[in-house]
Amino acid sequence: MKIKKAIIPIAGKGTRFLPATKEIAKEIIPIINVPMIHYIVKEAVEAGIEQIIFVTASGKYAVEDYFDRNQELEAFLEKNNKLKELELIKEIGSMVSVTSVRQKEQLGLGHAVLMAKDMIGYEPFAVILGDDIVVNDVPAIKQLMDVSVAHNGASVIGVMEVPKEDTKKYGIVKGEFINNTTLKMTGMVEKPNPEDAPTNLATPGRYILTREIFDILENIPRGAGNEYQLTDAINVLCRNKTVMAHKFIGERFDTGSVPGYLDATIDFALKDPATREHLIEAVKKRFNKYGITL
Ligand code: G1P
Repeated sequence: MKIKKAIIPIAGKGTRFLPATKEIAKEIIPIINVPMIHYIVKEAVEAGIEQIIFVTASGKYAVEDYFDRNQELEAFLEKNNKLKELELIKEIGSMVSVTSVRQKEQLGLGHAVLMAKDMIGYEPFAVILGDDIVVNDVPAIKQLMDVSVAHNGASVIGVMEVPKEDTKKYGIVKGEFINNTTLKMTGMVEKPNPEDAPTNLATPGRYILTREIFDILENIPRGAGNEYQLTDAINVLCRNKTVMAHKFIGERFDTGSVPGYLDATIDFALKDPATREHLIEAVKKRFNKYGITL
């Protein structure tokens, strides 16, 4: 069993990134010069995903266009002998097969995932949320796929430890550890207050799910925030099917928030030899300018 399809919901309005998101899709906002969505799709492709299903809303056409060929730009680059850039642009345009489906009303993540039902078929599939970039040689979603295979194709939820006071920002899992990194889940709760949270194991939006989730999503009531929550459906799934949670390896950046975005930008600039020296010099200069000493 190979997981070939990933649902990437991108219908959100990106209110944490206003005013930029007033006119552009938040997924197109770059970390230096690479749009955030590029990293998310790259994670999927490196894990062996062959088809991406974007769940979109109005104003998101740029995301679909980004992964399409752009003949006009290619011709321009070729004519001007910009061959390196030409190669890069062609590569992005043929990275993966992309389809999209509209979420006509913003009724929550569970509702968004349900919109892709008809495009999934019967095999397990991945769901990857775009607000969190996870950096690791073995992609986070691939690590979850491996756990799924090890457990007869079970659903697997990616988790990380968060400070207790942050449980109210995430879906939080509960269950029994079967080894140091993997739990057999007994339930999941959306954004509990710290005092009600069963654990501090939160999902930053990496899921392997089985087909049954759609039947559950069709029947759950609205949950937290008066929205249809994927978390609530997974909580029901745990009752009838094996659902695992796995602490994946990788550094995660909450690029949907301004501080997380800044962390990713600095990290990526320091990692890349093409930008490292410049960033170090630029920071030194500004430390002097603003009288900052460490
Ligand atoms: C969504 C999910 C939540 C998950 C989070 C990860 O919440 O509902 O379970 O932990 O994404 O980013 P949102 O951040 O969209 O409110």
